[in-house]
Amino acid sequence: MKRSVIKGTGRFIPSRCVTNDDLSKMMDTNDEWIQQRTGIKTRYWIPEGEIVGSSDLALEASKIALDNAGWQPEDIDLIIFATLSPDIFFPGSGCLLQTKLGLSDTPALDIRQQCTGFIYAMSTADAYIRSGMYNRILVVGAEVHSTGLDKTTAGRDVAVLFGDGAAAACVEAVETDANIGVLGSVLKADGKFAEKLMLELPGSKYPERINAEMLASGGQFPSMDGTRIFKLALRKLPEVTLEVLEQAGMSLDDIDMIIPHQANLRINEAYQKTLKIPEEKIFNNIQKYGNTTAATIPLALDETIEQGLVDPKKSTVLFVALGAGLTWAAMIHRFGE
Ligand code: ACO
Repeated sequence: MKRSVIKGTGRFIPSRCVTNDDLSKMMDTNDEWIQQRTGIKTRYWIPEGEIVGSSDLALEASKIALDNAGWQPEDIDLIIFATLSPDIFFPGSGCLLQTKLGLSDTPALDIRQQCTGFIYAMSTADAYIRSGMYNRILVVGAEVHSTGLDKTTAGRDVAVLFGDGAAAACVEAVETDANIGVLGSVLKADGKFAEKLMLELPGSKYPERINAEMLASGGQFPSMDGTRIFKLALRKLPEVTLEVLEQAGMSLDDIDMIIPHQANLRINEAYQKTLKIPEEKIFNNIQKYGNTTAATIPLALDETIEQGLVDPKKSTVLFVALGAGLTWAAMIHRFGE
């Protein structure tokens, strides 16, 4: 049976560290509020004034992941690129990454599922691998948020949360009877909450897509009903975790490490408490990077491997996320050879 196994990961974070004190010089906010409400101490943004897209960050992360997997770019059968901040409106960042990797006819697709983008992308990769269509899939999550945030007091509830970054995973078909690779995946969406967290402009439904009057409304910046999303996360993250465990016929005791999306440390602490997860079985790095959306889970996975918390030969990890859409999802993956 064909199983989808992660063979290498890599991450890339831009060099410009932005502290909470730096933000307080741009807007009416402060380190105490940001740390207490979100857990975030720093985030990294692309260098000011430079032209850097999500595909540029993804390229650097992908090179490291390919190296760790022992793949050449030519080995890739398909690129799946998860992002809410594509370099441009179209074509997708997957195509831009493809040419930057020096490839000329490898298929590439984008996934627009925001914070759950990596899990949706992994699940898509798993389906392609199980079907026999592709054997080596590069899954990337990458975001450049910093160029799209309202960095004035009006946008402070959102601007302080987000960081730029990218991370990639090389997913390979392994023919085996062993219970390894993607062991379960649950994907959910509920579009009735779309307006609770969205970036409206430019929008193809509007005759001009964007104009000066629309710009004055601020619809080109993300808007969020933070309290509503927060409450939804507290309920749905544990629910989807239990559902994926049931699907895989496993319990939390079978999981070595839980890697939750990094939207708010308080959400993850409440999730941990609800499911009674021991401290050593859950990983957070929002303190350092903020919310890098589609990149958060592979970025955290790469760090857990580097820190020896996850063994890339045998550990069982559970990914879980919730974000705009509304979308929420969970996946269990066991490393193996
Ligand atoms: N600095 C200082 N004060 C602030 C800031 C800031 N950056 N932002 C908001 N405030 C103020 C508000 O104006 C409000 O003031 P008021 O009481 O005078 O009206 C007060 O702080 C409290 O605001 P709340 O919004 O109630 O604060 P809350 O504790 O809910 O925290 C937050 C806000 C951090 C956004 C939280 O609601 C949250 O994390 N929500 C979920 C986010 C999430 O999970 N998103 C999904 C993933 S992102 C994606 O999919 C793209």
